[in-house]
Amino acid sequence: MSKPSLSPDQLVAFVCGMPKAELHMHIEGSLEPELMFALAQRNGVELPYASVDALRAAYDFSDLQSFLDIYYAGASVLQTEDDFYEMAWAYFLRAKADNVVHAELFFDPQTHTARGVSFATIINGLYRASQQAQAELGIRAQWILCFLRHLSQEEAVATLQAGLPHIDKFIGVGLDSSELGHPPEKFSKAFELARMLGLRRVAHAGEEGPPEYIWAAIDVLGAERIDHGVRAIDDTVLMERLARERIALTVCPLSNLKLCVVPTLRDHNLGKMLDAGIAVTINSDDPAYFGGYINQNFIETFAALELDVGHAITLARNSFAASFTTDAHKAEYNALLDAWCQQAGVY
Ligand code: ADE
Ligand code: ZN
Repeated sequence: MSKPSLSPDQLVAFVCGMPKAELHMHIEGSLEPELMFALAQRNGVELPYASVDALRAAYDFSDLQSFLDIYYAGASVLQTEDDFYEMAWAYFLRAKADNVVHAELFFDPQTHTARGVSFATIINGLYRASQQAQAELGIRAQWILCFLRHLSQEEAVATLQAGLPHIDKFIGVGLDSSELGHPPEKFSKAFELARMLGLRRVAHAGEEGPPEYIWAAIDVLGAERIDHGVRAIDDTVLMERLARERIALTVCPLSNLKLCVVPTLRDHNLGKMLDAGIAVTINSDDPAYFGGYINQNFIETFAALELDVGHAITLARNSFAASFTTDAHKAEYNALLDAWCQQAGVY
């Protein structure tokens, strides 16, 4: 298999047009300031910012918590089923433009149920958008219910129970929010319940937290993918295990930059992880807050780390392999990728 080297412009065009799966994106993190202001006005919610520009100017984060404080405040404008639908539909239009063919997306019900919004309101709006995305845009999308790790295990279990009447509308559970001080073990019973219900399991681990959190996400929670996982680089035994067992990492480079996990993108370890044979994928995390959707993550990471077309193809194949879809769908996506490579003269 020879992979001709492409010019920088050709590489950008290749990566942008390439079919890909997005496996780490919080739908609340796709709420753009313009829509946030429109929903605030519609629902009579007062935002502590005078304008869209003032809000964007506040997106200057020093760590994960400094982001989460603003992110949860922004989510307060979401109140009706239509609000959730509109937010998700806006994401799907952007995903289509970035040639995303498959998306497994997080939602944070506790952020909304704590304000009196029902589980049904949330999931029905999101699900309507994902059904429409499949019918009109050809994007297959699935939902993953995330537990907020700064809250208790009892609250996580109650959230999953509230979701039971809608279990046909989400495929799995995840774990997000403030990582440090909230190790995966705290949620062992909630994840065991999810396993018994036949749900897939993922968890944020090793974003700010130590490699031990990644071990526990795998061994205690049964996580099948690790969201972020960049701190695995500090543990060679873990790196070998991730590579050997093909446990995928859903890496989000622009998020890591904006939340000061890395000082510059040139310092990002994504290239080293790929070289170590780990099933890395590139994702956007909270694109409305971190400066770009999935293609922008590809473009900036490829430029900073001097990655090539071979890396691009590996990242796309990893995204399909690590998804929770059927083998038939994976074969369909890989065939789309083959066709894309062929028309680009890359074999
Ligand atoms: N919720 C939304 N984005 C998150 C992130 N990057 N880490 C943890 N929780 C999140
Ligand atoms: Zn995330």
